[in-house]
Amino acid sequence: MMALNCSISGKMVNSSQHIITTVLLPKNGHIMQIGITGCAGFLGSHLVDTVLYRGHKVIGIDNLSMGKIENIEHNLKHKNFKFFKVDVRDFERIEDRLQESDVIVHLAAYKIPRYGNALETLIINSHGTHNVLETARRNKIKVVLASTSDVYGKNPKVPFNEEDDLVIGPSTIPRWSYAASKLFDEHLSFAYQEEYNIPVVNIRLFGSYGPRHHLSWWGGPQSVFISQILNGEEISIHGDGKQTRSFTYVSDTIDGIVAALEKDEANGQIFNIGSNYEITILDLANLLGKLCNDLFNTSNELKLSFIPYSSISNKKYEDVRRRVPDVTKAKQILGFEPKVGLEEGLTKSIKWQKQVLDIPKPTL
Ligand SMILES: NC(=O)c1ccc[n+]([C@@H]2O[C@H](COP(=O)([O-])OP(=O)(O)OC[C@H]3O[C@@H](n4cnc5c(N)ncnc54)[C@H](O)[C@@H]3O)[C@@H](O)[C@H]2O)c1
Repeated sequence: MMALNCSISGKMVNSSQHIITTVLLPKNGHIMQIGITGCAGFLGSHLVDTVLYRGHKVIGIDNLSMGKIENIEHNLKHKNFKFFKVDVRDFERIEDRLQESDVIVHLAAYKIPRYGNALETLIINSHGTHNVLETARRNKIKVVLASTSDVYGKNPKVPFNEEDDLVIGPSTIPRWSYAASKLFDEHLSFAYQEEYNIPVVNIRLFGSYGPRHHLSWWGGPQSVFISQILNGEEISIHGDGKQTRSFTYVSDTIDGIVAALEKDEANGQIFNIGSNYEITILDLANLLGKLCNDLFNTSNELKLSFIPYSSISNKKYEDVRRRVPDVTKAKQILGFEPKVGLEEGLTKSIKWQKQVLDIPKPTL
């Protein structure tokens, strides 16, 4: 069954009525075979929808550790989509499944070692990327790697430019293991490009959100706050809430990824992909409270609970104070420009999340 119900003036609407992308027409009829690791995750599943819509063929890989089969269920019978439950740490199976690809988009990763699993983050992110690059080397395949805004770390100079210094904190603080793993991946990919002449693109993604985001901190503060507001709970603000982020609606993130995989001009480059609208976490909470009241015709007061970093876990923690991308380069080379404003994107996300939360849980 196809993912699409209809196409409205270049916009695509999927079977659950969410606009997935504003990416325009298929590229000059050039159909590619695209390998996507992490295809059942938040970004992976939206990317699958979009590239199938653009006429490409997709081999999707996921071990379903953090992703959900429900995210790709509507594509499982699509003639151009094949899904394999494979772990990216398993080189033989990765190569076996992805060797026919024209390009591999490597999204499978662990991304939040803040309060725990630093070891899994480091192993999955380094071994997985090595296996993807090795597959690419042996079979001459382009690779697009998902890196992260977290690599800029504590650099106080905003907005972050791709050439800026990356200011990571001490190794005794586990939260930096994610940034360190992605930084290692970036270096490894450029080393492969230099040694073996395979094209690589690194995209540094900034806080993507929207339908299908995880309903936990894994999905970001917006998803946790929406659930807390809808359930009438206190909103848990880490620290003083004055730290800033740049939230990017998922269709904009996907536009950036698609341009990176389709355009040869992207090869050999790093790109920031994100919105440059900066907002404090506190203002985000207030905005979500307002949007929920507007949407559901309520006048609920927001209840905030400030949680010191030290009481979240017994591990040392450091937060990033400001995070804003400079997207000049992505605009010039990829034609990337975020189109969905924060209020619009959050409203869509709230509507989606309300539907998900309202689904009755099965009784045991
Ligand atoms: N979402 C964001 O805002 C954001 C920001 C910066 C970077 N990124 C990067 O983008 C990529 C995708 O992020 P996402 O938000 O979709 O995360 P996600 O957790 O929803 O998706 C990742 C997918 O990878 C799969 N996976 C994890 N380990 C695996 C393994 N060993 N083998 C096979 N599959 C495995 C998971 O099951 C999941 O489906 C990640 O590399 C992440 O670091 C995302």
